Amino acid sequence: MSSEQLLVRRIKDGTVIDHIDAGKALIVLRALGIKDEGNVITIAMNVPSDKLGKKDIIKIENRFLLAEETNKLALLAPHATINIVENYNVREKRNVELPDRFIDMIRCINPNCITNSSENISSIIDVVDKSNRRLRCRYCRRIIDISEILYQI
Ligand code: CTP
Ligand code: ZN
Repeated sequence: MSSEQLLVRRIKDGTVIDHIDAGKALIVLRALGIKDEGNVITIAMNVPSDKLGKKDIIKIENRFLLAEETNKLALLAPHATINIVENYNVREKRNVELPDRFIDMIRCINPNCITNSSENISSIIDVVDKSNRRLRCRYCRRIIDISEILYQI
């Protein structure tokens, strides 16, 4: 049994977010907007990992997160794997993927951008380079680095 399995028990149903970069679990939970709804949530941080050296793991019981929800994590935890567990079996395993664009999820960092004015305009941030994780505002064309929007997530 791996040291990870000794630390946190297997779950019956729910979502396991594995291979989160060490130390990022709390920001990942916040980004997912996970609120306390009474279900069991286990967070393990700085667990020894063969692939990453150290990693964080989050187990959310009785909740099945959709790809649309977890893809946001491509910005924060690009190595994360999402495991959907049903009756103790991993029914689905997926990587997090950057979507082509974020609509109304990230605000443009340009204070003069029309999307930051009082007019009711949706923010559309295009992912222009998936491998370098570069984003660009559809309206003002401002290139946005991930480090500049981390505080919003
Ligand atoms: N897991 C769990 N409860 C289950 C099944 C799996 O908590 N009933 C967790 C495991 O502890 C692991 C993750 O879900 O953190 C993925 O499980 P599995 O695919 O069995 O592990 P690995 O083969 O090690 O996964 P990977 O290849 O993605 O590293
Ligand atoms: Zn803009």
